[in-house]
Amino acid sequence: MNNFIFENATKTVFGEGCVREYLSCFAGHYKETVMLAYGGGSIKKNGIYDEVVESLEKAGKNVIEFAGIMPNPSYSKVQDGARLARENEVDWILGVGGGSVMDCCKAISLAAVYDGDIWTDFWARLGVISFEPLPVGVIATTAGTGSEMSGRAVITNEEEKIKTGRDYPKCNPRFALIDPAYTYTVPEKQMISGGFGILSHVMEIYFSPPDENNVSDDIAEALMRGVIRDLRTSIKNAKDYTARSNLMWESAMAENRIIKIGKRLDLQCRNMEHQLGVYTDFSHGERLAALHPVYYRHIYKDAVRKFKRFAVNVWNISADGKPDEKTARAGVEALADFIKEIGLPGTLQKLGVSRRLDLKRIADSCQISSGGYRQMTHGEIYEIFKECM
Ligand code: NZQ
Repeated sequence: MNNFIFENATKTVFGEGCVREYLSCFAGHYKETVMLAYGGGSIKKNGIYDEVVESLEKAGKNVIEFAGIMPNPSYSKVQDGARLARENEVDWILGVGGGSVMDCCKAISLAAVYDGDIWTDFWARLGVISFEPLPVGVIATTAGTGSEMSGRAVITNEEEKIKTGRDYPKCNPRFALIDPAYTYTVPEKQMISGGFGILSHVMEIYFSPPDENNVSDDIAEALMRGVIRDLRTSIKNAKDYTARSNLMWESAMAENRIIKIGKRLDLQCRNMEHQLGVYTDFSHGERLAALHPVYYRHIYKDAVRKFKRFAVNVWNISADGKPDEKTARAGVEALADFIKEIGLPGTLQKLGVSRRLDLKRIADSCQISSGGYRQMTHGEIYEIFKECM
């Protein structure tokens, strides 16, 4: 194992009914004025909003609402939230929603108390947060990003045309309430996209050095098998609590830093997805599904043993009598077949990306990951984008 420091500061309560049971108690630990942040209104339709407001009222809180956080939250929305927090002297933030809401809240928690420009100092480059952000608590309503247990926040700067994420331990939510039954109302397409997002997060850790025997890779394989199983079950029966609760925890486990221990992380697919996300309007998981198999066809020969291990241990493909390279490639194709099986579009064209989109420009704006088996060039990323069409 490589040396490591591990920290995860999020107190997590997991299970059906946990918001009703615990929110007012958590709220009691924080001062009076809370900013209740949420997205486009799904929580008002499915009853989560009423449950949350009732608990906050029970705890005697003064609630300032910040609604309308959009999927792929923009930096201007973060600034709106920070302004509202300052004007109302908000003491803490409660984000109720998916990754977009949770990420936006983390960025607001910094912007509300920081005199400089948080994009320039903490997103455009890695910074040092030497002040206390507003405390953030979250109630996760999707399984996918794992934002509920990480310090990561992905923000899109619309003016600069950059979407990027940073993981600052100081941005970890102070508490996370995870009720898997809250995800029953997530539209199927979004549920599948989120599920693929989990698989992608685990793969980007697994497919990175070191590859000697290590606990992180062992857990990663169990998580990947789990996501595949639980997605299949959730597609058949949207209200299968066992599958939904597993997906919720797999989502958190992929991002709560446990399986990142000692690993380098290959963020290349995520970096490519982020930049495509600035120019196209699909979900995170849909774009990732179009990219992963093509990217892996480009790099599997640089890590044949690892891709073979993936084929055998995750997809149950027999390696008997086959050259390693063939088994390794079969694992990548099993991934591509799974993407088709669960109904993800699988190509950028099927996602509606126009042939007129300047893929070269997008490729040139992608960050290059140094944590994978081979460092990409912008030229090769452009080739990958064209193959993904
Ligand atoms: O806006 P509302 O009305 O809440 O509706 C949302 C939205 O339309 C809906 N939804 C969420 N929970 C629901 C629900 N609908 C019905 N019932 C529920 N229980 O789902 C739609 C998508 O929500 P969103 O939060 O955008 O989805 P997701 O959780 O996939 O988050 C995506 C964002 O997270 C970023 C992505 O880039 C994207 O901006 N990521 C964050 C990461 C992180 N923090 O570590 C890592 C990821 O790789 C990812 O980049």
